[in-house]
Parts: sequence; structure tokens; C-alpha cells
Amino acid sequence: MDIKIFPSILSCDFRFLKNEIKKIEKSGADGIHIDIMDGHFVPNFSMGPKIVEAINKSTNLFLDVHLMMYNPFDYIERFIEMGADMISIHFEATENIEYLLKYIRRCGKKAGLVFNPETSESMVVNFLDKCDQILFMTVHPGFGGQKFMEKVLDKVEFTRNLCNSLRIKESGISKKSKNFDIAVDGGINRENSYRCIEMGANVIISGSYLFSFKDMKKGVEQLRKR
Ligand code: DX5
Ligand code: ZN
Repeated sequence: MDIKIFPSILSCDFRFLKNEIKKIEKSGADGIHIDIMDGHFVPNFSMGPKIVEAINKSTNLFLDVHLMMYNPFDYIERFIEMGADMISIHFEATENIEYLLKYIRRCGKKAGLVFNPETSESMVVNFLDKCDQILFMTVHPGFGGQKFMEKVLDKVEFTRNLCNSLRIKESGISKKSKNFDIAVDGGINRENSYRCIEMGANVIISGSYLFSFKDMKKGVEQLRKR
């Protein structure tokens, strides 16, 4: 399975946003992860639609918008208008998960579902056929640069095993779920990326580790290694 790497733009130097995006483009990464925080669902603020628009105008890379906010429905359309290719919503942030995932897909975008470290992975089975990616937070959402939480590895393994044992029915077509995207986000570096991949993750999101490289390409290569 191909390993996809997404640098999290939250860790960039915002004084030089355009250069930082160029850095990502040159690194061979598969897209850009953009963290949106509302100050309620998580105790922090980050970016809004204007920044997503600016990033979209600066690159053709795939944009994965991670909504760490309550009432995500109110903003999905706006972030899509601003250039999001994928919208990821939190399991813990809304009651209308199925409806929202469907809505994102009907807008022609990829739909991701995110689980906090404390949320039970047993819920995953209800959504595999309704989204394009399951993302496991490997830190408490809200800040970059935190320490990776080992215990989440079990959730990744559980979900990959589940995917391998199921055939997901999508639009009436039975497709093998083996290639289903499982992502990890938070505190990812060279050592734990390898372990996440071993457990079945194929999408690696990383902020402070990747932006610590002068040449991000080296970091991306490190993270891709099995
Ligand atoms: C945390 C964010 C992450 C974060 C990753 O709330 O969702 O995407 O930016 O950054 P690092 O890799 O520094 O933990
Ligand atoms: Zn994120």
C-alpha cells in the first residue's frame, strides 16, 4: 500500500506562508493538512476560510481540511468554496455524522472522520462505507508539537484488521476495503511513523517534525520508510 504524507501547515512559519507551501511542493508530499480550530471544541484558534483560500491560490496540492469545531455543518460549504479537497469532521463534535459525511461527498469532496484518543474505535465499523478516511488523533487535538500517544496504535491495528476482513459496499458496488485510508495525526516523527505504518496506517500527517527540516524532502522520505 502506498504511504501518503501530509505536512500540517499549522507548524509552518506564517510570515513566509508562500515559501512554506513551496517547501511542501518540493518535498514530494501528497497534500497539505490544514487545521481549523474554533476555540471551543479545542482550546485554541488557528486558521479560517481566508487562509484556506490563500493556500489554494498558491498550490495545486490536495488540501485536507481538518475541522476541529462544533457545528461543522455551518462551515463545510465555505471551506469547500475556498478550495478544500477533503473535509474531515470529528466524531465527537456533532450528532449528524452520517448526514455530514454524505453531504461532503455530495459536494464532490472526500469525507474524513476523525476520532480523538479517548473515543472507542468500536464506532468505526458504522462509518467505513460512509467516508473516505478514518483519522486517529495521536495527541489531544488543539496544538502542534505534542507527544505521540502510544495507546492509539491499537486503534489503528483494530481498524486495519477490520478493513481487511470486510468488503465495503459503496454506491451498490462491492469494493475491497483493503486499501481504505487510515490516517494518524499528532506528534508523528521518524520512529513512531514506522510503527503506525506497521499497525496499518497509510496516511501520515506531521507538523513540527517535517517543518524542522531545512529540506523537507528528507523528512518526507524518513516518514515514508517502513
Ligand atoms: C493537532 C493537529 C495536528 C497538528 C500536528 O490538533 O490536528 O494536525 O498540527 O502537528 P504535530 O505533528 O507537530 O503534532
Ligand atoms: Zn490535524
